[in-house]
Amino acid sequence: MSAPTFPTYSAEHLHTVTMRIWQGLGGPPEEARLLADHLVAANLAGHDSHGVGLLQDYATGVREGGIALGRRPEIVADTGVVVTFDAGSGLGQVAAHDAMAVGIERARQHGAAVVALRRSHHVGRIGHWAEQCAAAGFSSLHLVSVPGDRLVAPFGGTDARFGTNPFCAAFPRPGADPILADFATSRLALGKMRVAHNSGVQAPAGTLLDAQGRPTTDPGAMFEDPRGALLTTGEHKGSAMAVLFELFAGAMAGGGITDQESSTSTLGIMNAMFSLVVDPAAFGTTDAQEQAEVFLRWVTDSPPAEGVEQVLLPGEPERRSRERRTAEGIPIDPNTWQQILDAGASAGLDPADLVP
Ligand SMILES: NC(=O)c1ccc[n+]([C@@H]2O[C@H](COP(=O)([O-])OP(=O)(O)OC[C@H]3O[C@@H](n4cnc5c(N)ncnc54)[C@H](O)[C@@H]3O)[C@@H](O)[C@H]2O)c1
Repeated sequence: MSAPTFPTYSAEHLHTVTMRIWQGLGGPPEEARLLADHLVAANLAGHDSHGVGLLQDYATGVREGGIALGRRPEIVADTGVVVTFDAGSGLGQVAAHDAMAVGIERARQHGAAVVALRRSHHVGRIGHWAEQCAAAGFSSLHLVSVPGDRLVAPFGGTDARFGTNPFCAAFPRPGADPILADFATSRLALGKMRVAHNSGVQAPAGTLLDAQGRPTTDPGAMFEDPRGALLTTGEHKGSAMAVLFELFAGAMAGGGITDQESSTSTLGIMNAMFSLVVDPAAFGTTDAQEQAEVFLRWVTDSPPAEGVEQVLLPGEPERRSRERRTAEGIPIDPNTWQQILDAGASAGLDPADLVP
Protein backbone atom coordinates (compact mmCIF):
# COMPACT_ATOMS: atom_id res chain seq x y z
CA MET A 1 0.00 0.00 0.00
CA SER A 2 2.18 2.91 -1.18
CA ALA A 3 0.85 6.14 0.32
CA PRO A 4 0.54 9.39 -1.64
CA THR A 5 2.21 12.56 -0.24
CA PHE A 6 0.16 14.47 2.34
CA PRO A 7 0.56 17.74 4.29
CA THR A 8 2.72 17.37 7.39
CA TYR A 9 2.11 18.62 10.95
CA SER A 10 4.61 18.87 13.78
CA ALA A 11 4.32 16.51 16.75
CA GLU A 12 3.99 19.57 19.02
CA HIS A 13 1.05 20.93 17.03
CA LEU A 14 -0.77 17.57 17.00
CA HIS A 15 -0.15 17.25 20.74
CA THR A 16 -1.71 20.67 21.36
CA VAL A 17 -4.67 19.90 19.05
CA THR A 18 -5.32 16.59 20.86
CA MET A 19 -5.16 18.18 24.31
CA ARG A 20 -7.51 20.99 23.30
CA ILE A 21 -10.05 18.63 21.75
CA TRP A 22 -9.98 16.27 24.73
CA GLN A 23 -10.37 19.06 27.25
CA GLY A 24 -13.10 20.57 25.05
CA LEU A 25 -14.94 17.24 25.33
CA GLY A 26 -14.69 17.51 29.12
CA GLY A 27 -11.59 15.40 29.84
CA PRO A 28 -9.30 16.46 32.72
CA PRO A 29 -5.91 17.93 31.70
CA GLU A 30 -3.85 14.92 32.91
CA GLU A 31 -6.07 12.56 30.88
CA ALA A 32 -5.75 14.83 27.83
CA ARG A 33 -1.96 14.81 28.24
CA LEU A 34 -1.70 11.00 28.49
CA LEU A 35 -3.94 10.68 25.43
CA ALA A 36 -1.95 13.25 23.43
CA ASP A 37 1.37 11.62 24.44
CA HIS A 38 0.06 8.26 23.24
CA LEU A 39 -1.59 9.26 19.96
CA VAL A 40 1.27 11.48 18.81
CA ALA A 41 3.85 8.82 19.78
CA ALA A 42 1.92 6.32 17.62
CA ASN A 43 2.09 8.72 14.66
CA LEU A 44 5.78 9.32 15.27
CA ALA A 45 6.36 5.54 15.36
CA GLY A 46 4.71 5.36 11.94
CA HIS A 47 1.48 3.69 13.15
CA ASP A 48 -1.00 6.29 11.90
CA SER A 49 -3.79 3.76 12.42
CA HIS A 50 -3.32 4.38 16.17
CA GLY A 51 -2.50 8.08 16.07
CA VAL A 52 -4.50 11.31 16.15
CA GLY A 53 -6.82 9.93 13.45
CA LEU A 54 -8.59 8.10 16.31
CA LEU A 55 -9.84 11.38 17.81
CA GLN A 56 -13.12 11.33 15.93
CA ASP A 57 -13.93 7.77 17.08
CA TYR A 58 -12.97 8.68 20.63
CA ALA A 59 -15.14 11.85 20.54
CA THR A 60 -18.04 9.65 19.41
CA GLY A 61 -17.17 7.29 22.29
CA VAL A 62 -17.52 10.16 24.77
CA ARG A 63 -20.84 11.33 23.27
CA GLU A 64 -22.36 7.85 23.13
CA GLY A 65 -21.22 6.81 26.61
CA GLY A 66 -18.54 4.29 25.55
CA ILE A 67 -15.82 6.31 27.34
CA ALA A 68 -16.21 7.45 30.96
CA LEU A 69 -14.24 10.70 31.16
CA GLY A 70 -11.92 11.26 34.10
CA ARG A 71 -12.10 7.64 35.34
CA ARG A 72 -8.95 5.98 36.71
CA PRO A 73 -8.79 2.16 36.81
CA GLU A 74 -9.45 0.36 40.12
CA ILE A 75 -7.75 -2.74 41.53
CA VAL A 76 -10.41 -5.47 41.88
CA ALA A 77 -8.16 -8.47 42.71
CA ASP A 78 -4.62 -8.48 44.11
CA THR A 79 -2.33 -11.33 45.15
CA GLY A 80 0.75 -9.11 45.15
CA VAL A 81 2.21 -10.69 42.01
CA VAL A 82 -1.09 -10.83 40.06
CA VAL A 83 -3.02 -7.56 39.97
CA THR A 84 -6.35 -7.13 38.17
CA PHE A 85 -7.68 -3.72 37.19
CA ASP A 86 -11.21 -2.76 36.16
CA ALA A 87 -11.10 0.39 34.05
CA GLY A 88 -14.87 0.98 34.26
CA SER A 89 -14.94 2.06 30.57
CA GLY A 90 -12.37 4.76 31.28
CA LEU A 91 -10.02 6.01 28.57
CA GLY A 92 -7.60 3.17 27.71
CA GLN A 93 -4.59 5.48 27.51
CA VAL A 94 -5.10 6.33 31.20
CA ALA A 95 -6.10 2.83 32.33
CA ALA A 96 -3.14 1.07 30.68
CA HIS A 97 -0.73 3.76 31.89
CA ASP A 98 -1.84 3.34 35.50
CA ALA A 99 -1.93 -0.47 35.25
CA MET A 100 1.63 -0.60 33.85
CA ALA A 101 2.89 1.78 36.55
CA VAL A 102 1.63 -0.69 39.19
CA GLY A 103 3.00 -3.67 37.18
CA ILE A 104 6.45 -2.05 37.15
CA GLU A 105 6.30 -1.39 40.87
CA ARG A 106 5.25 -4.99 41.63
CA ALA A 107 7.91 -6.44 39.30
CA ARG A 108 10.46 -4.34 41.18
CA GLN A 109 9.28 -5.94 44.46
CA HIS A 110 8.76 -9.54 43.30
CA GLY A 111 10.91 -9.95 40.16
CA ALA A 112 7.82 -10.27 37.97
CA ALA A 113 4.19 -9.24 37.90
CA VAL A 114 1.10 -10.21 35.95
CA VAL A 115 -1.30 -7.36 35.35
CA ALA A 116 -4.78 -7.86 33.93
CA LEU A 117 -6.76 -4.92 32.64
CA ARG A 118 -10.47 -5.36 31.99
CA ARG A 119 -13.36 -3.14 30.85
CA SER A 120 -10.97 -0.60 29.35
CA HIS A 121 -11.78 1.52 26.35
CA HIS A 122 -9.26 1.06 23.46
CA VAL A 123 -5.68 1.02 24.80
CA GLY A 124 -4.33 2.06 21.38
CA ARG A 125 -0.84 1.08 20.24
CA ILE A 126 0.25 -1.73 22.58
CA GLY A 127 3.95 -0.96 21.96
CA HIS A 128 3.47 2.21 24.02
CA TRP A 129 2.83 0.10 27.15
CA ALA A 130 5.82 -2.15 26.49
CA GLU A 131 7.92 1.01 26.02
CA GLN A 132 6.70 2.30 29.41
CA CYS A 133 7.95 -0.95 31.00
CA ALA A 134 11.21 -0.91 29.00
CA ALA A 135 11.91 2.72 29.98
CA ALA A 136 11.87 1.52 33.61
CA GLY A 137 14.28 -1.33 32.70
CA PHE A 138 11.70 -4.16 32.52
CA SER A 139 10.94 -6.76 29.85
CA SER A 140 7.27 -7.29 29.18
CA LEU A 141 4.80 -9.14 27.08
CA HIS A 142 1.19 -8.21 26.41
CA LEU A 143 -1.64 -10.40 25.09
CA VAL A 144 -4.65 -8.32 24.11
CA SER A 145 -8.23 -9.03 23.07
CA VAL A 146 -10.98 -6.78 21.80
CA PRO A 147 -14.12 -8.23 23.38
CA GLY A 148 -17.27 -7.73 21.34
CA ASP A 149 -15.41 -6.53 18.22
CA ARG A 150 -16.11 -9.09 15.50
CA LEU A 151 -13.57 -8.21 12.81
CA VAL A 152 -11.41 -11.26 12.04
CA ALA A 153 -12.35 -14.63 10.56
CA PRO A 154 -10.80 -17.71 12.21
CA PHE A 155 -8.51 -19.73 9.90
CA GLY A 156 -10.77 -21.66 7.55
CA GLY A 157 -13.90 -19.61 8.48
CA THR A 158 -15.87 -17.15 6.34
CA ASP A 159 -17.13 -14.57 8.82
CA ALA A 160 -15.67 -12.49 11.65
CA ARG A 161 -15.60 -14.15 15.07
CA PHE A 162 -13.00 -12.19 17.10
CA GLY A 163 -10.96 -8.99 17.18
CA THR A 164 -7.51 -8.14 15.82
CA ASN A 165 -6.13 -9.40 19.18
CA PRO A 166 -2.59 -7.96 19.17
CA PHE A 167 0.66 -9.38 20.57
CA CYS A 168 3.46 -7.28 21.96
CA ALA A 169 6.79 -8.03 23.68
CA ALA A 170 9.76 -5.82 24.43
CA PHE A 171 13.31 -6.33 25.68
CA PRO A 172 14.97 -3.22 27.19
CA ARG A 173 18.43 -2.04 26.12
CA PRO A 174 20.13 0.54 28.32
CA GLY A 175 20.71 3.76 26.37
CA ALA A 176 18.84 2.53 23.28
CA ASP A 177 15.28 1.84 22.14
CA PRO A 178 13.99 -1.59 23.21
CA ILE A 179 13.69 -4.55 20.87
CA LEU A 180 9.95 -4.41 20.29
CA ALA A 181 7.53 -6.77 18.55
CA ASP A 182 4.05 -5.25 18.37
CA PHE A 183 1.44 -6.40 15.88
CA ALA A 184 -2.14 -7.46 15.33
CA THR A 185 -2.89 -11.15 14.77
CA SER A 186 -4.88 -10.08 11.69
CA ARG A 187 -2.68 -9.59 8.62
CA LEU A 188 -3.57 -5.89 8.75
CA ALA A 189 -4.95 -3.93 11.71
CA LEU A 190 -8.41 -2.39 11.11
CA GLY A 191 -6.85 1.07 11.47
CA LYS A 192 -4.57 0.29 8.52
CA MET A 193 -7.69 -0.57 6.48
CA ARG A 194 -9.20 2.77 7.58
CA VAL A 195 -6.05 4.62 6.46
CA ALA A 196 -6.15 2.73 3.10
CA HIS A 197 -9.87 3.46 2.70
CA ASN A 198 -9.40 7.19 3.54
CA SER A 199 -6.42 7.40 1.18
CA GLY A 200 -8.21 5.63 -1.68
CA VAL A 201 -5.75 2.72 -1.95
CA GLN A 202 -6.50 -1.02 -2.28
CA ALA A 203 -5.64 -3.51 0.46
CA PRO A 204 -3.07 -6.23 -0.33
CA ALA A 205 -4.49 -9.53 -1.61
CA GLY A 206 -5.06 -12.14 1.07
CA THR A 207 -6.00 -9.71 3.84
CA LEU A 208 -9.78 -9.41 3.50
CA LEU A 209 -13.08 -11.20 2.89
CA ASP A 210 -16.24 -9.41 1.77
CA ALA A 211 -19.57 -9.78 3.57
CA GLN A 212 -20.26 -12.95 1.56
CA GLY A 213 -16.97 -14.50 2.73
CA ARG A 214 -15.24 -14.02 -0.66
CA PRO A 215 -11.63 -12.67 -0.96
CA THR A 216 -11.49 -8.93 -1.86
CA THR A 217 -8.94 -6.07 -1.91
CA ASP A 218 -11.49 -3.28 -1.34
CA PRO A 219 -10.88 -1.89 2.19
CA GLY A 220 -14.42 -0.46 2.00
CA ALA A 221 -15.64 -4.01 2.79
CA MET A 222 -14.79 -3.29 6.45
CA PHE A 223 -16.77 -0.03 6.55
CA GLU A 224 -20.05 -1.22 5.03
CA ASP A 225 -23.07 -2.92 6.54
CA PRO A 226 -22.97 -5.92 6.49
CA ARG A 227 -19.25 -5.90 7.09
CA GLY A 228 -16.58 -8.25 5.70
CA ALA A 229 -13.80 -9.87 7.74
CA LEU A 230 -10.04 -9.47 8.11
CA LEU A 231 -7.85 -12.55 7.67
CA THR A 232 -5.33 -13.70 10.28
CA THR A 233 -1.57 -13.28 9.90
CA GLY A 234 0.38 -16.51 9.40
CA GLU A 235 -2.84 -18.33 8.49
CA HIS A 236 -3.57 -20.92 11.25
CA LYS A 237 -0.79 -19.51 13.48
CA GLY A 238 -2.28 -16.03 13.88
CA SER A 239 -5.69 -17.58 14.32
CA ALA A 240 -4.38 -19.81 17.14
CA MET A 241 -2.69 -16.85 18.86
CA ALA A 242 -5.85 -14.72 18.67
CA VAL A 243 -7.89 -17.51 20.26
CA LEU A 244 -5.38 -17.93 23.12
CA PHE A 245 -5.22 -14.16 23.77
CA GLU A 246 -9.01 -14.08 24.09
CA LEU A 247 -8.79 -16.97 26.58
CA PHE A 248 -6.01 -15.33 28.64
CA ALA A 249 -7.10 -11.67 28.64
CA GLY A 250 -10.83 -12.24 28.14
CA ALA A 251 -11.95 -15.48 29.79
CA MET A 252 -9.28 -16.06 32.47
CA ALA A 253 -8.60 -12.46 33.52
CA GLY A 254 -12.23 -11.37 33.25
CA GLY A 255 -11.98 -9.03 30.26
CA GLY A 256 -15.00 -10.61 28.58
CA ILE A 257 -15.22 -12.69 25.40
CA THR A 258 -16.51 -12.03 21.90
CA ASP A 259 -19.78 -13.74 20.98
CA GLN A 260 -23.10 -12.85 19.40
CA GLU A 261 -24.32 -11.10 22.52
CA SER A 262 -21.18 -9.04 23.29
CA SER A 263 -20.78 -8.01 19.66
CA THR A 264 -24.24 -6.45 19.57
CA SER A 265 -24.18 -4.88 23.06
CA THR A 266 -20.61 -3.47 23.37
CA LEU A 267 -20.31 0.33 23.05
CA GLY A 268 -17.18 1.46 21.16
CA ILE A 269 -13.83 -0.37 21.10
CA MET A 270 -13.04 -2.14 24.35
CA ASN A 271 -9.79 -3.93 25.19
CA ALA A 272 -8.71 -6.57 27.67
CA MET A 273 -4.96 -6.81 28.26
CA PHE A 274 -2.91 -9.53 30.00
CA SER A 275 0.60 -8.21 30.73
CA LEU A 276 3.65 -9.95 32.15
CA VAL A 277 6.27 -7.51 33.45
CA VAL A 278 9.67 -9.04 34.26
CA ASP A 279 12.77 -7.68 35.98
CA PRO A 280 15.73 -8.97 33.91
CA ALA A 281 17.88 -8.88 37.08
CA ALA A 282 15.63 -11.49 38.74
CA PHE A 283 17.33 -14.38 36.89
CA GLY A 284 20.78 -13.78 38.36
CA THR A 285 22.37 -13.57 34.90
CA THR A 286 25.14 -11.00 34.80
CA ASP A 287 25.74 -10.90 31.06
CA ALA A 288 22.18 -10.75 29.70
CA GLN A 289 22.73 -7.49 27.81
CA GLU A 290 26.04 -8.68 26.31
CA GLN A 291 24.42 -11.96 25.25
CA ALA A 292 21.54 -10.04 23.76
CA GLU A 293 23.82 -7.74 21.76
CA VAL A 294 25.85 -10.68 20.41
CA PHE A 295 22.65 -12.41 19.29
CA LEU A 296 21.17 -9.25 17.75
CA ARG A 297 24.35 -8.64 15.72
CA TRP A 298 24.28 -12.30 14.61
CA VAL A 299 20.72 -11.78 13.37
CA THR A 300 21.32 -8.52 11.52
CA ASP A 301 24.51 -9.91 9.94
CA SER A 302 22.41 -12.28 7.83
CA PRO A 303 23.10 -11.38 4.18
CA PRO A 304 20.07 -9.42 2.95
CA ALA A 305 17.79 -11.03 0.37
CA GLU A 306 17.46 -9.49 -3.08
CA GLY A 307 15.66 -6.14 -2.88
CA VAL A 308 16.26 -5.87 0.89
CA GLU A 309 18.69 -3.18 2.00
CA GLN A 310 19.36 -4.54 5.49
CA VAL A 311 17.99 -7.07 7.97
CA LEU A 312 16.15 -5.08 10.64
CA LEU A 313 15.45 -5.80 14.28
CA PRO A 314 11.91 -5.59 15.65
CA GLY A 315 11.36 -1.98 16.73
CA GLU A 316 13.81 -0.58 14.16
CA PRO A 317 11.15 0.61 11.66
CA GLU A 318 9.45 2.55 14.48
CA ARG A 319 12.77 4.07 15.61
CA ARG A 320 13.56 5.22 12.06
CA SER A 321 10.06 6.63 11.62
CA ARG A 322 10.36 8.55 14.92
CA GLU A 323 13.64 10.07 13.81
CA ARG A 324 12.29 11.02 10.36
CA ARG A 325 8.92 12.35 11.50
CA THR A 326 10.40 14.31 14.39
CA ALA A 327 12.56 16.13 11.82
CA GLU A 328 10.12 16.34 8.89
CA GLY A 329 6.67 16.34 10.52
CA ILE A 330 3.82 13.82 10.51
CA PRO A 331 1.88 13.40 7.25
CA ILE A 332 -1.92 13.40 7.66
CA ASP A 333 -4.28 12.72 4.76
CA PRO A 334 -6.99 15.36 4.14
CA ASN A 335 -9.89 13.02 5.11
CA THR A 336 -8.29 12.26 8.45
CA TRP A 337 -7.49 15.95 9.07
CA GLN A 338 -11.13 16.82 8.35
CA GLN A 339 -12.23 14.13 10.84
CA ILE A 340 -9.94 15.72 13.45
CA LEU A 341 -11.49 19.15 12.76
CA ASP A 342 -14.96 17.56 13.06
CA ALA A 343 -13.95 16.06 16.42
CA GLY A 344 -12.82 19.57 17.42
CA ALA A 345 -16.15 21.07 16.29
CA SER A 346 -17.99 18.43 18.37
CA ALA A 347 -15.91 19.64 21.35
CA GLY A 348 -17.05 23.24 20.71
CA LEU A 349 -13.78 24.39 19.09
CA ASP A 350 -13.50 26.64 16.05
CA PRO A 351 -11.69 24.65 13.28
CA ALA A 352 -9.69 27.81 12.47
CA ASP A 353 -8.09 27.54 15.93
CA LEU A 354 -6.82 24.03 15.20
CA VAL A 355 -4.97 24.90 12.00
CA PRO A 356 -1.23 25.47 12.50
N1 LIG B 1 -5.60 -1.83 20.81
C1 LIG B 1 -5.97 -2.73 19.93
O1 LIG B 1 -7.02 -3.33 20.06
C2 LIG B 1 -5.09 -3.04 18.76
C3 LIG B 1 -5.50 -4.04 17.89
C4 LIG B 1 -4.68 -4.35 16.80
C5 LIG B 1 -3.49 -3.66 16.59
N2 LIG B 1 -3.14 -2.67 17.47
C6 LIG B 1 -1.91 -1.92 17.24
O2 LIG B 1 -1.77 -1.65 15.85
C7 LIG B 1 -0.42 -1.37 15.56
C8 LIG B 1 -0.09 -1.86 14.20
O3 LIG B 1 -0.18 -3.28 14.15
P1 LIG B 1 0.21 -4.04 12.81
O4 LIG B 1 -0.24 -5.43 12.93
O5 LIG B 1 -0.27 -3.23 11.66
O6 LIG B 1 1.81 -3.93 12.88
P2 LIG B 1 2.87 -4.19 11.69
O7 LIG B 1 2.37 -5.22 10.75
O8 LIG B 1 3.26 -2.85 11.15
O9 LIG B 1 4.10 -4.84 12.47
C9 LIG B 1 4.82 -4.04 13.35
C10 LIG B 1 5.85 -4.87 14.06
O10 LIG B 1 6.70 -5.53 13.13
C11 LIG B 1 8.07 -5.08 13.30
N3 LIG B 1 8.70 -5.02 11.99
C12 LIG B 1 8.25 -4.38 10.88
N4 LIG B 1 9.10 -4.54 9.85
C13 LIG B 1 10.11 -5.32 10.31
C14 LIG B 1 11.29 -5.86 9.73
N5 LIG B 1 11.61 -5.62 8.45
N6 LIG B 1 12.10 -6.61 10.49
C15 LIG B 1 11.79 -6.85 11.78
N7 LIG B 1 10.69 -6.38 12.40
C16 LIG B 1 9.85 -5.62 11.67
C17 LIG B 1 7.93 -3.72 13.91
O11 LIG B 1 9.10 -3.31 14.57
C18 LIG B 1 6.76 -3.96 14.86
O12 LIG B 1 7.18 -4.63 16.02
C19 LIG B 1 0.37 -2.02 16.71
O13 LIG B 1 0.98 -0.97 17.41
C20 LIG B 1 -0.68 -2.72 17.55
O14 LIG B 1 -0.43 -2.65 18.95
C21 LIG B 1 -3.91 -2.36 18.53
